[in-house]
Amino acid sequence: MIGLGIETSCDETSIAFVEDGKKILSNVVYSQIEEHNKFYGIVPEIASRSHLIKINEVYEKALEESKLSPKDIDYIAVTVQPGLIGSLLIGGQFAKTFCILYKKPIIDINHLEAHFYANFLERKEEPNYPFLGLLLSGGNTAIYVVEGLGKLKILANTQDDAIGEAFDKVASILELGYPGGPIIEKKSKEYSNTTNSLFPKILKDLPENQISFSFSGIKTSLLYYVRKNQSKLDIPYICYEFQETCFELVLRMLKRAIQITNIKTVEAGGGVLANQRLRELLDELAKKTHTKIYYPKNKILCTDNAAMVATLGYYYYINHYTTDLNFVPSSKIINSYSKFDS
Ligand code: KG4
Repeated sequence: MIGLGIETSCDETSIAFVEDGKKILSNVVYSQIEEHNKFYGIVPEIASRSHLIKINEVYEKALEESKLSPKDIDYIAVTVQPGLIGSLLIGGQFAKTFCILYKKPIIDINHLEAHFYANFLERKEEPNYPFLGLLLSGGNTAIYVVEGLGKLKILANTQDDAIGEAFDKVASILELGYPGGPIIEKKSKEYSNTTNSLFPKILKDLPENQISFSFSGIKTSLLYYVRKNQSKLDIPYICYEFQETCFELVLRMLKRAIQITNIKTVEAGGGVLANQRLRELLDELAKKTHTKIYYPKNKILCTDNAAMVATLGYYYYINHYTTDLNFVPSSKIINSYSKFDS
């Protein structure tokens, strides 16, 4: 079964062709980073215009790499929520046009849910519900209990910034460039000393039975530190301490989630999972808690991409879910719990 995946929720224009939800035939990702980095963040207007300019080219390239013809496609899976509305509209319109031209069924995808399914592209096992979904990206930081297709129950959310957003803003404060995550990871590696902590532990008084995230306090703390020590800044040290403090919180909260729910499978996704230090910490936690923690081995599958969208679409399609041309993209998350009831 061949799926066409379309992803344009933020600043990546991506088209993929995936066989049986597992095998990537092509996964072309055009990243707009160069277009946004002088602004230290994403400019929505630039993002949607860029999707519009690039989407046909990305599609042609993906089609060529897959060696398929449009007729070979069984279903279209397109991200329709959440994200930048102008960006989502481009992918949505592309999908509708493709559907009219080639008469193929459409599946509307929540791309946060798709992040968890990126993991099934690389392994034989099928989703084992319920699992914990750990999402760490530029726009979201959350833990879900995933009870089935479209059945996501939020267990913990961020009270303020998303973790990736905090990395991006801190890189901006330190004038390191955009996106901040990969740069802060690289700088941290230059620091070899593990000494006392520069920043206070985040949410240190949160009761043991509660799970939450917060990253704006550490960002402010770092800003004040930078202002005070302007003339003698040790960038690798600051990056290292910032990264460690953020990941300590992630690990502490994930451990709580495992203990509270007693769910022993975690599917993790989102751009921040590309971080090698985080991957090591998750591997250690998996051993200590006898939990299976998965994240995409191939780092390109951590950030927004269309292959994960096609994979999630595959699971919906084999479970007889499709939508019609009236779907409306949404910048916010729409509750999909009743997707199979209508
Ligand atoms: O999932 P993603 O592509 O989409 C958005 O939510 O936009 O995640 C992008 C985020 C950015 O904030 C970026 O700084 C962060 O993921 N990121 C990283 C790393 N690579 C990307 N954060 C930490 N370490 C990394 N190696």
